[in-house]
Amino acid sequence: MKEKYLVADEWNIIEEGWDPARQEGSESIFSLGNGHMGQRANFEEQYTGKHLQGSYIAGIYYPDKTRVGWWKNGYPDYFAKVLNSVNWIGINLSIDGEALDLAKVKVREFRRILNMKTGTLSRSFTAELHGGRELKVETLRFISMKRKEIGAIRYSLTPLNFEGSISYTPYLDFDVVNHDSNYDEQFWEGVEEHVGTQKAVLSARTKKLDFHVAAAMRYEFFEDGKHITLYPEMEKRARYAQNTFAATVEEGKTYHLYKYAAVVSSLHHTKAALISVADNLASDAMNDGFRQLLDEHTTDWAARWEKSDIMIEGDVEAQQGIRFNIFQLTQTYTGEDARLNIGPKGFTGEKYGGSTYWDTEAYCLPFYMASAGQEVAKNLLVYRYNHLPKAIENAEKLGFTGGAALYPMVTMNGEECHNEWEITFEEIHRNGAIAYAIYNYIRYFGDETYLADYGLEVLIAIARFWAQRVNWSTAKQQYVMLGVTGPNEYENNVNNNWYTSYIAQWCLSYALESIAQVEELDKTRLTEIFDKTAFDREKESEQWQHIIHKLYLPYDEAQGIFLQQENYLDKEQRTAEDLDPGERPINQHWSWDRILRSCFIKQADVLQGLYFFEEDFDRETVRRNFDFYEPRTLHESSLSPCVHVVLAAYLDKMEKAYELYLRTSRLDLDDYNREVHEGLHITSMAGTWLSVVEGFGGMRVRNGALHFTPKLPKGWHKLSFKIAFGGTTLLCSFGRENHMVKNLGVQKVKVAINGKEAQLV
Ligand code: BGC
Repeated sequence: MKEKYLVADEWNIIEEGWDPARQEGSESIFSLGNGHMGQRANFEEQYTGKHLQGSYIAGIYYPDKTRVGWWKNGYPDYFAKVLNSVNWIGINLSIDGEALDLAKVKVREFRRILNMKTGTLSRSFTAELHGGRELKVETLRFISMKRKEIGAIRYSLTPLNFEGSISYTPYLDFDVVNHDSNYDEQFWEGVEEHVGTQKAVLSARTKKLDFHVAAAMRYEFFEDGKHITLYPEMEKRARYAQNTFAATVEEGKTYHLYKYAAVVSSLHHTKAALISVADNLASDAMNDGFRQLLDEHTTDWAARWEKSDIMIEGDVEAQQGIRFNIFQLTQTYTGEDARLNIGPKGFTGEKYGGSTYWDTEAYCLPFYMASAGQEVAKNLLVYRYNHLPKAIENAEKLGFTGGAALYPMVTMNGEECHNEWEITFEEIHRNGAIAYAIYNYIRYFGDETYLADYGLEVLIAIARFWAQRVNWSTAKQQYVMLGVTGPNEYENNVNNNWYTSYIAQWCLSYALESIAQVEELDKTRLTEIFDKTAFDREKESEQWQHIIHKLYLPYDEAQGIFLQQENYLDKEQRTAEDLDPGERPINQHWSWDRILRSCFIKQADVLQGLYFFEEDFDRETVRRNFDFYEPRTLHESSLSPCVHVVLAAYLDKMEKAYELYLRTSRLDLDDYNREVHEGLHITSMAGTWLSVVEGFGGMRVRNGALHFTPKLPKGWHKLSFKIAFGGTTLLCSFGRENHMVKNLGVQKVKVAINGKEAQLV
């Protein structure tokens, strides 16, 4: 059930009024990040009300022992957790001995704004303290897009009707916990702490994996613009360091505290250097000053928006929704480092462990290809290439041989972290998405050298997995794929899931085609790959061909539809409309047994295949399958609506497309699923982008040309977006009648609108 809480605005997310019950949700929505680190919108000052403290560093995780009911051979022993890391934002305040704590004081005129254009978070309120003293508070913070290891805060106070003494305690704190820790363990051990006048630096290490992180702070204090010299008290203990100073404040004057923090990790620096690197970065930040840091940061954001913005005229909520999605995707992954990826919750919460799922390849890649460019997108692929040895080990653990690879369902470093047999061992379609992403990237950028350099090794290993995963059925005289879970996780351990088998068959064909392509490109490299992978060309190719031709794909002749799995039609056939709304989501109201036996579908399954491989099917086939499966689909995964929007728009079902679009684009802003407090649905935000660009813009890549079939929902006057394609940037602008695509660069590029092709110069 959706609700309107935030103010509609094209560039800002605005919360007006203080409602402690919403604090955790707002902490998620107003999160900041820069690809290197992220911070929930926790308060700087002490807050004893309900909240989820979260400060995360990309790539820093903890392998927590898992709790499972019954251990199965082949299970991994840990679940990777994105770690709540050093609290660098903290500034405690006490006014004449009374702590400023929004859970304890009276709060008026509370306003929180996430400015998506500039990537800044601001907050203002008036606090009424004991004895009627009133204090106006205004804060502004950002995590620098330009200096990835720097965060900065301006914390301003104005006593409205009193004078007195305010004590400030800026601090750094590694003494933090993860709420999702399985055994209530602390994951950080202190290494060093140093504290000085107006500065502190400390480091800590994670247990087990020994990641080291150092944080440093500097701060300065101004009274109405005048710099004040301070003589703070210094304090430190294991994992913690602070300064405390007191200022005598006067009515009507404004006091600004600027805090600069550096957070660095052993992923990017040697452990020995961390303390000095952090200290120097914080010192440089303060010397350059808040204004300069902010200017750099907003200039950087402006350049990112220049490439990625989508403009919707005529629908402010839709505009705000899509910008929020783009903003969050951009601050989650910036693509300089192939060791990083996109967790389903990004840097906004602990759920899903911050790890990588098939979400990246199946949903996120197109956004980064078109909005962030080739290098960023390529790093997402190289991430999986680098994990290939672990994917081979993972398959070996399950009994596969000869260089077959099974990529993990959930991972940080290539190792499987998922522990439910029906998903870990059976939801193997993820392997297909990883191969599909290679195809998708090469189709988009025409970068065939990627196949020779990286892609082919991955494709061979994935094809080998499928070749061993199927078995010959004497009864059917065909290959079958038994015991799998498709994308629809409301069915487990089914036989011949159409989507899984179809993508397996496609992977085998694509691997064979890619071998031929690399042979044409670079014979020496092909020999190298064959040697490295011990590939027996004749034997393996012949076996793959046989499987391609003889793989069983369940189909219902009577209705002309692909069967989600064999015997799907034996289930009692009902549609979502037959369900009492009070029973939805069924995953919160029904027993798992009941869900498994029902015909209801969690997310696109057959339709996921039709979305990926649209060109393999005629429109009527897509329509028949859509008409059959969509009414049975409950969209209880946030990844579901977007695929349906793209297909619905393709089939001219615009009302359906718009209805489902709203569910995806404002999922978190309007808290449709009542779970925004746990964090944002980052990977499904890329699905929103797909809905707009591939759904309403109808964008497809065909033979090196970009095709559009624009179809605007009712109420939208105009849809415009920029796309990086063919070495140039295109401005695409679609109205209700007039459409335009403009080449903003110098490279020629082929574009078609409604089938009419033109070369744009
Ligand atoms: C979905 C998966 C998805 C995962 C993480 C699950 O609810 O069913 O497809 O990979 O969430 O987003």
